[in-house]
Parts: sequence; C-alpha cells; structure tokens
Amino acid sequence: MAGKAAASLRISRRPGLDAAQILAALPDPVLVIGGSGLIEYANAAAEQFFGASAPTFLGAPLADLVPPDSPLLALLGSVRRSGHSVSEYAVSLETPRLGSRIVTIQAAPLAEEGDRLVVTLQERSMAHKIDRQLTHRSAARSVTGMAAMLAHEVKNPLSGIRGAAQLLEENLNHADRELTRLICDEADRIVALVDRMEAFSDRRPLERGAVNIHEVLNRVRLAAQSGFGRHVHFVENYDPSLPPVYGNRDALIQAFLNLVKNAAEAVPSSGGEVQISTAYQHGVRLAVSGTDARLHLPLVVEVADNGEGIPEDLRPHLFDPFVTSKHNGTGLGLALVAKVIDDHGGVIEFESEPRRTVFRMFLPKATSEGEK
Ligand SMILES: Nc1ncnc2c1ncn2[C@@H]1O[C@H](COP(=O)(O)OP(=O)(O)OP(=O)(O)O)[C@@H](O)[C@H]1O
Ligand SMILES: [Mg+2]
Repeated sequence: MAGKAAASLRISRRPGLDAAQILAALPDPVLVIGGSGLIEYANAAAEQFFGASAPTFLGAPLADLVPPDSPLLALLGSVRRSGHSVSEYAVSLETPRLGSRIVTIQAAPLAEEGDRLVVTLQERSMAHKIDRQLTHRSAARSVTGMAAMLAHEVKNPLSGIRGAAQLLEENLNHADRELTRLICDEADRIVALVDRMEAFSDRRPLERGAVNIHEVLNRVRLAAQSGFGRHVHFVENYDPSLPPVYGNRDALIQAFLNLVKNAAEAVPSSGGEVQISTAYQHGVRLAVSGTDARLHLPLVVEVADNGEGIPEDLRPHLFDPFVTSKHNGTGLGLALVAKVIDDHGGVIEFESEPRRTVFRMFLPKATSEGEK
C-alpha cells in the first residue's frame, strides 16, 4: 500500500513542486523513524506537537520524546513485525512537555526505504468521534429512550413485511415463496428483537458468534427493496474473501436496516443510489479504555448514498437519540446503530457532502473458534 502511494507521488508531482513544502504545510504531525528507532524527519506540525524544534531531536531516539512504555513505540514494533500499515484510534499519548493527548496514530513502512517508518498523528477526527459516540451510547440506554426505541424498532421491520406482502398480492406465482420466507423470517426477527430489548434492562452482553456479513447485508437489501427502498438503485461492492464478523446477526441486521433506510430516505426519488461495500483493512485497532488491550477491527462496511448530505447543524449530535430533521422521524435510528456497533466493540464514522454521504463501520472478525 505504502509502495503504491510512493509510486503515485512520483508520478503525480509536477516539476518544481517541493514535497518538503507540502509536508511542512500539513496540519498533522508527520515523523519518519529509522530502523534503529532514531527520528529522521519531523514536519513543522510534529515540532509543534512535541513542543521542540527539529534540530533538537533529529537523530535522537523517539524514546526521548515519549515514555518507554508509550503505545506509540509498541505500535511501531507491530508495523515492523507485520510489514503492514497500522492505525490505532483513541490512543493516549504522553509527551513530557505537553502532557497527555488523545490521538489517532497511523504508521506505515516507507516504501523502498529499508526499515524506515512514516508516522502520522491526528489529534481530533476519529478520537473525538469515538468519544462522542461513547457518550451517546449512554443516552441511548436511558429508560425512556429504550421504550421509544422498542416501538421504533417494531415499526421498521414491519415496513419490510408489509412491502413483501404487497408484492405477493401483485404477483402470485412460485417466486413468491422467497417472499413468504422473508415474511416469516422478519416476523421471527421482530420477536427476537423484542426479546433483546427486554434483555437490555439487565445489560447482558450481546451473544456473539461468527456472522456472515454479506448474508446480513443481502437480507437488509432485500427487505429494503421490497419496502422503503423501492425507488433506490442498490449497488453492492463486496469483498468475497471477507472473514465472518464476530457479532450478533439480529443486532447487525437491525443496525444496517437503519442505515440503509436513512440512505434511502436521503436519495432523490429518481437517480437515487445506495452503495453497500465491504472490505478488509489491515491494522485498524482501537484502544480499549481503561486497559492496555487493543481491539483489532479489520472488517470495514460502508453504506453510501448520493443524497444531499447530513444537515450541518445535526452533525455534532448525529448519534444522539431524538436528533432528526424528518417530519415523522424519531431520531432513534442512529442512536441504535451507534449502540449496536459499540456493543460489538466497533467504531462508526461518517463523512458527508452533497451527493455523497458515507457511514463507515469497523468491526472485529471472528476466529475459527468463534471468538474475537
Ligand atoms: N444518509 C443520510 N443522509 C442525510 N442525512 C442523514 C442520513 N442519515 C441520517 N441523516 C440525518 O440524521 C438524522 C437522524 O437520523 P436517525 O436515523 O437517527 O433518525 P431519523 O431517520 O430522523 O428517524 P427514524 O430513524 O426514526 O426514521 C436524520 O433525520 C437526518 O437528518
Ligand atoms: Mg432513521
């Protein structure tokens, strides 16, 4: 991956354009660490971050800038061992001069440069989003929110059921058997869902196992297409070699149904497109708060639409319950999605601009024993 980036950099840079200038202008700290752990490059943002000018630490060990037990050093070790780029979210980084900062660290081997690694640090972005999501999760757990959520979640699957039944009426032939099965499955799912909602109050951990995410997404698409998403053109872009998610199938269906419903509601009535993609990404890890544990989240699922985008004023509170711009909306859909993803130890983030809104989830994979 790093090799490709370096190759395209050489090709895409116009003569006279100075890469050093570009790096100096970047607001995020960038460091290059040599094979023996010495700092070989630091951009201006890195100087600022560590509160020291480059001449004072260039050639010095990185361990001079961060404590020896810093997660940054451990992360570099794992990039060297694996040869892959690694990202780690919500890492608390102690710098002697500036105290503790919450950052996202990304590190990758520098192509064709032997043992050198390039490291970038981001102070806001994902780390903040995660913080926000974790706060919102507790809001979603409030008793009132829960009761409303129960009603809300009975409504959504019913729209799929009703849509399927309508299709049956229009077209009574042997192909209807698939729809009949859908009706039964959806009904079963609602029962399981209501059971699960009742179980919320005792906060039992989610029952998880190996789940085929493509089967989940297919089910969601089928329900959407025969109900609220009839007007939408669905594009599926799946990585067929994706290993199973370590998850709860019903909860995942519930989460993706909400995301696809939002996407279907956001797209124009003609030309609306919802793209569902999956991919495997090495090296996405999340620090588990209060422990040294690192959760690996290699499975990436995206739901993208070509609607007008998320209203600016909703963005800071998007995952809060009751945040809605819709006449008949409850604003519980995304609160529920955030909770489900969090119950899986996963991360959700979004990007939105007119004609392209993406919700991206990072989830853990199941091993052969069905464990994390
Ligand atoms: N794909 C999207 N494109 C544009 N805006 C979105 C998208 N997804 C969510 N939103 C915005 O976020 C708000 C909250 O979504 P959420 O699913 O929580 O509630 P809702 O869709 O309004 O209500 P309900 O889910 O009960 O129908 C929406 O009202 C909408 O403004
Ligand atoms: Mg919704």
